[in-house]
Amino acid sequence: MNRRKFLFAGTRLGMALAAGSLLSPKSVLGRAAPSETADTAKTTQNPGRIFITGSSDGLGYLAAESLQAQGHEVIVHVRSQQRMPAVRKLVEKGAVATVGDLSDLAQIHDLARQVNAVGRMDAVIHNAGVFSGPHVLMVNTVAPFLLTALIQRPRRLIYLSSGMHKGGSTDLAGKDWLGRSSAGGYSDSKLYVTTLAAAVARLWPDVFSNAVNPGWVPTKMGGPAAPDDLHLGHATQEWLAVSDEPEAKTSGGYWFHRKREEPHSAVRDVRFQDLLLAELARVTGTRLA
Ligand SMILES: NC(=O)c1ccc[n+]([C@@H]2O[C@H](COP(=O)([O-])OP(=O)(O)OC[C@H]3O[C@@H](n4cnc5c(N)ncnc54)[C@H](OP(=O)(O)O)[C@@H]3O)[C@@H](O)[C@H]2O)c1
Repeated sequence: MNRRKFLFAGTRLGMALAAGSLLSPKSVLGRAAPSETADTAKTTQNPGRIFITGSSDGLGYLAAESLQAQGHEVIVHVRSQQRMPAVRKLVEKGAVATVGDLSDLAQIHDLARQVNAVGRMDAVIHNAGVFSGPHVLMVNTVAPFLLTALIQRPRRLIYLSSGMHKGGSTDLAGKDWLGRSSAGGYSDSKLYVTTLAAAVARLWPDVFSNAVNPGWVPTKMGGPAAPDDLHLGHATQEWLAVSDEPEAKTSGGYWFHRKREEPHSAVRDVRFQDLLLAELARVTGTRLA
């Protein structure tokens, strides 16, 4: 299919999906979910249900595609109805699509409602991110916090970090969390989301909560000259989401290519964790239960 035809088909799909913000594959396309097919029964011993934010592109899309191919039930997420065509292939194969702009508090609440309506997730991969602009802190830190608080507690939580988190500032004073007047710092946002992962690991011992540095990889964010391996860039979060290997069923790690590394010292500082959680609870009006 050429690009024009693809876009046209995508637009038609988007219009079909626009009838509701949450759609099951059966209601839209009348296809069986992957877990019902003989193929997936062969390849997957322990299928899970995984929600991945920012699955319209880049590492989120690739993780969703790969997990679905392994026979897992995938809940994808796009920022708006206009982005629905980006997940058309995944929806055709059984993925449930959810919608919500992570730079908007009300839409994050609505997104959490859509996810909870599907049922309890086995794993959530907090993948969506932006590198610049006014909503860096909102999308990269506030949204993962709020979704963590609002979505029915899954067994596993994975937060996308970055090697750049090590350059983040521990000064939380005067942050424009909601991006109302100034641009947020990417390194700061990744330090905070990595700290969130560690705080959740401490506070919720029944959940495996981890942060992943995917490397510098060639996506829309990473750019075409990024030097690291694109496949390895999404393999660790998939492994943490579904593997039964004992190492994948641990908590509080900061991972790079399936190896634990030492994060910024503030990440494990309980006082800093508590300050961050209090600040995020203040700006969102929502506490971690
Ligand atoms: N690429 C790298 O080298 C690299 C390095 C370190 C860490 N990371 C982290 O890895 C994660 C994935 O990055 P990527 O490289 O795959 O980035 P990407 O290709 O730019 O994809 C980002 C995803 O997040 C979604 N998103 C952005 N803002 C959103 C919003 N306001 N509401 C809803 N969805 C939104 C995008 O939606 P649209 O498609 O609609 O834009 C897209 O699906 C990010 O957290 C990033 O910080 C990436």
